[in-house]
Amino acid sequence: MKKIPIIIDCDPGHDDALMLMLAFGSEKFDIKAVTTSAGNQTQEKTLNNALKILTLIGAKVPVYRGAEKPLFRNLIIADHVHGETGLDGPSLPKPNINSESISAVEGIAQILQSSKEKIILVPTGPLTNIATFLLAYPHLKDKIERISLMGGGIFRGNMTPLAEFNIFADPEAAHLVFKSGVPITMCGLDVTHKALVFQKDIELLRTIGNKSGTAAADLMDFFSIFYRSNRTELDGGAALHDPCAIAWLMEPDMFKSKSCFVDVEINGTLTTGTTVVDFYNVTGKEANTEVVYDIDRERYIQLLHDAISRLP
Ligand code: RIB
Ligand code: CA
Repeated sequence: MKKIPIIIDCDPGHDDALMLMLAFGSEKFDIKAVTTSAGNQTQEKTLNNALKILTLIGAKVPVYRGAEKPLFRNLIIADHVHGETGLDGPSLPKPNINSESISAVEGIAQILQSSKEKIILVPTGPLTNIATFLLAYPHLKDKIERISLMGGGIFRGNMTPLAEFNIFADPEAAHLVFKSGVPITMCGLDVTHKALVFQKDIELLRTIGNKSGTAAADLMDFFSIFYRSNRTELDGGAALHDPCAIAWLMEPDMFKSKSCFVDVEINGTLTTGTTVVDFYNVTGKEANTEVVYDIDRERYIQLLHDAISRLP
């Protein structure tokens, strides 16, 4: 079966790491490159973390360093969730690969320019690199088939009452991406707070018995600390956000979604970074986003387990 051509843009980050394991372990994707964004930690750390994870799983793929900060705002990080390194918890191997000499934006441009087919972008961090690419290379926009992202939410936020971290971290970038006209799949907090990983699921990953399974379980043990003390309504589950953006490309029937018009607030005192989802089409505006809001959790866990089982 033909593999799906994608470029991953991420800010590892524990759930980004699991997303990379799913993407590479699934064997369903022709992964052209991995680019890194500043978000969960600084660019220095997210890049190093991406190189560590790719080394662990034996992935040979070009890696490009992305922006150091958002388009206009100061960098905010999520060390309260991901720790000082951005991947606290497991001990991971030193990278045996280096990043490329050109930037993430130039790398994306080169790949799209030379590709005979359209490519799907899969950002799971702030959208700074994607927005910068769209600004710098507008003539290559048509080479993007779709953007399948983790970010936003219909009814809630996790950085403010209404804004989710990836969007809040760089709202201007997100606004530009949602306005771009590129078809978007948005895996926001509505679906990711149903993509829950419980201790039994972590132990299932650990029983795989390979390096990747052990690392995935150790990563989830650390990631769960935040959720068990700050999201008690999730009954001990951790919201495994980022792999949703990959899993939707693999098995969209595992999810529920609706085509909606979505815009991003960039001026509100209380609402900046909110993805404003016109779920009932009250504005009459044309839908620009497939908004994902539900998931078959058991299938999700099985997908992760099967992919990680294929890794070293
Ligand atoms: O709000 C969750 C998102 O922010 C995830 O992508 C997580 O990795 C962080 O980047
Ligand atoms: Ca992320």
